[in-house]
Amino acid sequence: MYFIANWKMHGNARYIEKANSVIKLLKIRKYKNIKIIYCPPYTLLKTFFDKYKNSNISIGSQNCHPYSDFGPFTGSINSKLIKSTGSKYIIIGHSENRNDGDTNIIINKKIKSALRENLKVIFCIGETLTEKKKNITNKILKKQISIGLKKIKKFQNIIFAYEPVWSIGTGLVPKRNELIKNLKFIRKTILNLSNIKNIKILYGGSVNPNNAKKLAEINEISGFLIGGASLNAKNFIDIIKKSIN
Ligand code: 13P
Repeated sequence: MYFIANWKMHGNARYIEKANSVIKLLKIRKYKNIKIIYCPPYTLLKTFFDKYKNSNISIGSQNCHPYSDFGPFTGSINSKLIKSTGSKYIIIGHSENRNDGDTNIIINKKIKSALRENLKVIFCIGETLTEKKKNITNKILKKQISIGLKKIKKFQNIIFAYEPVWSIGTGLVPKRNELIKNLKFIRKTILNLSNIKNIKILYGGSVNPNNAKKLAEINEISGFLIGGASLNAKNFIDIIKKSIN
Protein backbone atom coordinates (compact mmCIF):
# COMPACT_ATOMS: atom_id res chain seq x y z
CA MET A 1 0.00 0.00 0.00
CA TYR A 2 1.04 3.57 -0.67
CA PHE A 3 0.58 6.31 1.91
CA ILE A 4 1.24 9.68 0.37
CA ALA A 5 1.27 12.81 2.50
CA ASN A 6 0.23 15.89 0.54
CA TRP A 7 1.11 18.77 2.83
CA LYS A 8 -0.28 21.34 0.39
CA MET A 9 0.71 24.89 1.44
CA HIS A 10 1.72 23.94 4.98
CA GLY A 11 4.92 23.15 6.78
CA ASN A 12 8.25 24.43 7.98
CA ALA A 13 11.60 22.88 8.84
CA ARG A 14 10.23 21.61 12.16
CA TYR A 15 7.49 19.65 10.40
CA ILE A 16 10.14 17.54 8.77
CA GLU A 17 11.03 15.97 12.13
CA LYS A 18 7.59 14.38 12.11
CA ALA A 19 8.81 11.83 9.61
CA ASN A 20 11.09 10.30 12.27
CA SER A 21 8.25 8.45 13.93
CA VAL A 22 7.04 7.11 10.59
CA ILE A 23 10.53 5.83 9.78
CA LYS A 24 10.56 4.04 13.13
CA LEU A 25 7.23 2.40 12.29
CA LEU A 26 8.61 1.13 8.99
CA LYS A 27 11.25 -0.83 10.91
CA ILE A 28 8.50 -3.11 12.25
CA ARG A 29 8.20 -6.16 10.00
CA LYS A 30 4.50 -5.79 9.42
CA TYR A 31 5.03 -2.36 7.86
CA LYS A 32 8.20 -3.09 5.92
CA ASN A 33 6.56 -3.31 2.50
CA ILE A 34 4.52 -0.17 2.59
CA LYS A 35 5.52 2.86 0.59
CA ILE A 36 5.59 6.26 2.24
CA ILE A 37 5.95 9.38 0.16
CA TYR A 38 6.02 12.90 1.59
CA CYS A 39 5.04 15.75 -0.65
CA PRO A 40 5.94 18.94 1.23
CA PRO A 41 6.00 22.40 -0.38
CA TYR A 42 8.83 23.01 -2.90
CA THR A 43 10.80 25.00 -0.34
CA LEU A 44 11.22 21.96 1.93
CA LEU A 45 12.01 19.30 -0.66
CA LYS A 46 15.80 19.53 -0.54
CA THR A 47 15.98 19.76 3.25
CA PHE A 48 13.64 16.80 3.51
CA PHE A 49 15.71 14.78 1.06
CA ASP A 50 19.04 15.58 2.74
CA LYS A 51 17.73 14.54 6.13
CA TYR A 52 16.11 11.28 5.10
CA LYS A 53 18.00 10.19 2.00
CA ASN A 54 19.21 7.02 3.72
CA SER A 55 15.76 6.04 4.95
CA ASN A 56 13.02 4.15 3.16
CA ILE A 57 10.68 7.11 2.75
CA SER A 58 10.59 9.03 -0.51
CA ILE A 59 9.73 12.58 -1.38
CA GLY A 60 7.73 14.16 -4.15
CA SER A 61 6.58 17.58 -5.23
CA GLN A 62 2.96 18.71 -5.41
CA ASN A 63 3.04 20.15 -8.92
CA CYS A 64 5.36 21.36 -11.68
CA HIS A 65 5.42 23.75 -14.61
CA PRO A 66 4.50 22.14 -17.95
CA TYR A 67 7.63 23.35 -19.75
CA SER A 68 10.35 20.71 -19.63
CA ASP A 69 13.40 22.86 -20.21
CA PHE A 70 14.81 25.82 -18.34
CA GLY A 71 13.27 29.10 -19.42
CA PRO A 72 11.85 32.52 -18.62
CA PHE A 73 9.03 31.47 -16.29
CA THR A 74 9.24 33.65 -13.22
CA GLY A 75 8.33 31.91 -10.00
CA SER A 76 7.91 28.50 -11.62
CA ILE A 77 9.51 25.14 -10.91
CA ASN A 78 9.74 22.44 -13.58
CA SER A 79 10.45 18.71 -13.39
CA LYS A 80 14.19 19.18 -13.95
CA LEU A 81 14.41 21.43 -10.88
CA ILE A 82 12.25 19.05 -8.88
CA LYS A 83 14.46 16.13 -9.85
CA SER A 84 17.50 18.06 -8.61
CA THR A 85 16.05 18.15 -5.07
CA GLY A 86 16.18 14.35 -4.79
CA SER A 87 12.44 13.96 -5.39
CA LYS A 88 11.29 10.74 -7.02
CA TYR A 89 7.60 11.54 -7.30
CA ILE A 90 5.39 14.36 -8.44
CA ILE A 91 1.68 14.97 -7.93
CA ILE A 92 0.02 16.20 -11.14
CA GLY A 93 -3.59 17.12 -11.83
CA HIS A 94 -4.65 17.84 -8.27
CA SER A 95 -8.10 19.43 -8.25
CA GLU A 96 -6.72 22.48 -6.45
CA ASN A 97 -4.43 23.05 -9.45
CA ARG A 98 -7.20 22.24 -11.92
CA ASN A 99 -9.17 24.89 -10.09
CA ASP A 100 -6.30 27.33 -10.63
CA GLY A 101 -6.51 26.78 -14.39
CA ASP A 102 -4.80 23.47 -15.16
CA THR A 103 -6.67 21.99 -18.11
CA ASN A 104 -6.40 18.34 -19.15
CA ILE A 105 -4.04 19.47 -21.93
CA ILE A 106 -1.74 21.31 -19.51
CA ILE A 107 -1.81 18.28 -17.23
CA ASN A 108 -0.80 16.07 -20.14
CA LYS A 109 2.22 18.34 -20.77
CA LYS A 110 3.16 18.23 -17.10
CA ILE A 111 2.95 14.43 -16.99
CA LYS A 112 5.11 14.13 -20.10
CA SER A 113 7.72 16.47 -18.67
CA ALA A 114 7.83 14.55 -15.39
CA LEU A 115 8.18 11.18 -17.12
CA ARG A 116 10.97 12.59 -19.28
CA GLU A 117 12.90 13.26 -16.05
CA ASN A 118 12.14 9.73 -14.87
CA LEU A 119 9.98 10.96 -12.06
CA LYS A 120 7.03 8.85 -10.99
CA VAL A 121 3.72 10.62 -11.45
CA ILE A 122 0.83 10.60 -9.01
CA PHE A 123 -1.92 11.51 -11.46
CA CYS A 124 -5.05 12.91 -9.77
CA ILE A 125 -8.51 12.68 -11.25
CA GLY A 126 -11.96 13.19 -9.85
CA GLU A 127 -15.36 14.74 -10.40
CA THR A 128 -16.82 17.84 -8.76
CA LEU A 129 -20.07 17.77 -6.82
CA THR A 130 -21.94 19.39 -9.72
CA GLU A 131 -20.62 16.75 -12.11
CA LYS A 132 -21.60 14.00 -9.70
CA LYS A 133 -25.11 15.44 -9.38
CA LYS A 134 -25.42 15.70 -13.15
CA ASN A 135 -24.50 12.02 -13.36
CA ILE A 136 -21.52 12.67 -15.62
CA THR A 137 -18.78 11.28 -13.37
CA ASN A 138 -17.77 8.59 -15.88
CA LYS A 139 -17.61 11.06 -18.72
CA ILE A 140 -15.41 13.42 -16.69
CA LEU A 141 -13.08 10.67 -15.47
CA LYS A 142 -12.72 9.29 -19.00
CA LYS A 143 -11.86 12.72 -20.36
CA GLN A 144 -9.33 13.43 -17.60
CA ILE A 145 -7.65 10.07 -18.19
CA SER A 146 -7.65 10.04 -21.99
CA ILE A 147 -6.45 13.63 -22.49
CA GLY A 148 -4.13 13.52 -19.48
CA LEU A 149 -2.39 10.44 -20.85
CA LYS A 150 -2.43 11.32 -24.55
CA LYS A 151 0.66 10.06 -26.39
CA ILE A 152 2.14 8.61 -23.21
CA LYS A 153 3.64 5.16 -23.22
CA LYS A 154 5.38 4.80 -19.88
CA PHE A 155 2.28 3.91 -17.85
CA GLN A 156 4.28 1.88 -15.37
CA ASN A 157 5.61 5.13 -13.89
CA ILE A 158 2.15 6.49 -13.21
CA ILE A 159 0.17 5.96 -10.04
CA PHE A 160 -3.45 7.02 -10.29
CA ALA A 161 -5.21 8.86 -7.49
CA TYR A 162 -8.98 9.06 -7.50
CA GLU A 163 -9.94 12.14 -5.52
CA PRO A 164 -13.60 13.17 -5.79
CA VAL A 165 -13.36 16.95 -5.48
CA TRP A 166 -16.39 17.07 -3.16
CA SER A 167 -14.58 14.76 -0.80
CA ILE A 168 -11.41 16.83 -0.39
CA GLY A 169 -11.23 18.57 2.96
CA THR A 170 -14.97 18.13 3.60
CA GLY A 171 -15.11 15.04 5.80
CA LEU A 172 -17.27 13.39 3.13
CA VAL A 173 -16.25 10.06 1.64
CA PRO A 174 -18.08 8.28 -1.21
CA LYS A 175 -20.29 5.37 -0.30
CA ARG A 176 -18.54 2.03 -0.63
CA ASN A 177 -20.53 0.90 -3.69
CA GLU A 178 -20.11 4.19 -5.48
CA LEU A 179 -16.39 4.19 -4.76
CA ILE A 180 -15.90 0.64 -6.04
CA LYS A 181 -17.93 1.41 -9.15
CA ASN A 182 -15.82 4.49 -9.94
CA LEU A 183 -12.54 2.72 -9.22
CA LYS A 184 -13.53 -0.12 -11.53
CA PHE A 185 -14.47 2.35 -14.23
CA ILE A 186 -11.10 4.09 -13.87
CA ARG A 187 -9.26 0.76 -14.14
CA LYS A 188 -11.23 -0.22 -17.24
CA THR A 189 -10.57 3.15 -18.86
CA ILE A 190 -6.83 2.87 -18.20
CA LEU A 191 -6.77 -0.68 -19.54
CA ASN A 192 -8.42 0.51 -22.75
CA LEU A 193 -5.43 2.78 -23.32
CA SER A 194 -2.70 0.36 -22.32
CA ASN A 195 -2.83 -3.20 -21.13
CA ILE A 196 -0.35 -2.66 -18.31
CA LYS A 197 -0.37 -5.03 -15.42
CA ASN A 198 -0.38 -3.83 -11.87
CA ILE A 199 -2.35 -0.60 -12.19
CA LYS A 200 -2.21 1.26 -8.92
CA ILE A 201 -5.16 3.43 -7.98
CA LEU A 202 -5.10 5.35 -4.73
CA TYR A 203 -8.01 7.02 -3.04
CA GLY A 204 -7.84 10.57 -1.68
CA GLY A 205 -10.40 12.77 0.07
CA SER A 206 -10.95 13.10 3.83
CA VAL A 207 -9.01 9.95 4.72
CA ASN A 208 -8.59 9.85 8.48
CA PRO A 209 -7.88 7.30 11.25
CA ASN A 210 -11.62 6.61 11.61
CA ASN A 211 -12.37 5.68 8.01
CA ALA A 212 -9.00 4.23 6.93
CA LYS A 213 -9.74 0.62 7.90
CA LYS A 214 -12.98 0.41 5.91
CA LEU A 215 -11.45 2.12 2.91
CA ALA A 216 -8.36 -0.08 2.99
CA GLU A 217 -10.56 -3.16 2.86
CA ILE A 218 -11.62 -2.21 -0.65
CA ASN A 219 -9.54 -4.37 -3.00
CA GLU A 220 -9.45 -1.79 -5.76
CA ILE A 221 -7.58 0.68 -3.51
CA SER A 222 -3.76 0.47 -3.49
CA GLY A 223 -3.23 3.24 -0.99
CA PHE A 224 -4.17 6.75 0.05
CA LEU A 225 -3.33 10.31 -0.88
CA ILE A 226 -3.79 12.16 2.37
CA GLY A 227 -4.09 15.90 2.90
CA GLY A 228 -5.11 17.32 6.29
CA ALA A 229 -4.55 14.17 8.33
CA SER A 230 -0.98 13.82 7.04
CA LEU A 231 0.07 17.04 8.78
CA ASN A 232 -0.26 15.33 12.13
CA ALA A 233 2.22 12.46 12.57
CA LYS A 234 -0.04 10.62 14.99
CA ASN A 235 -2.98 10.69 12.59
CA PHE A 236 -0.79 9.68 9.69
CA ILE A 237 0.59 6.72 11.65
CA ASP A 238 -2.89 5.75 12.84
CA ILE A 239 -4.10 5.68 9.25
CA ILE A 240 -1.22 3.36 8.33
CA LYS A 241 -1.84 1.10 11.32
CA LYS A 242 -5.58 0.87 10.66
CA SER A 243 -4.97 0.04 7.00
CA ILE A 244 -2.50 -2.81 7.48
CA ASN A 245 -3.45 -5.90 9.42
P1 13P B 1 -7.85 15.86 2.57
O1 13P B 1 -7.26 14.56 3.04
O2 13P B 1 -7.48 17.01 3.45
O3 13P B 1 -9.30 15.74 2.29
O4 13P B 1 -7.13 16.20 1.17
C1 13P B 1 -7.07 15.23 0.20
C2 13P B 1 -6.17 15.69 -0.86
O5 13P B 1 -6.46 16.65 -1.54
C3 13P B 1 -4.91 14.97 -1.04
O6 13P B 1 -4.29 15.32 -2.22
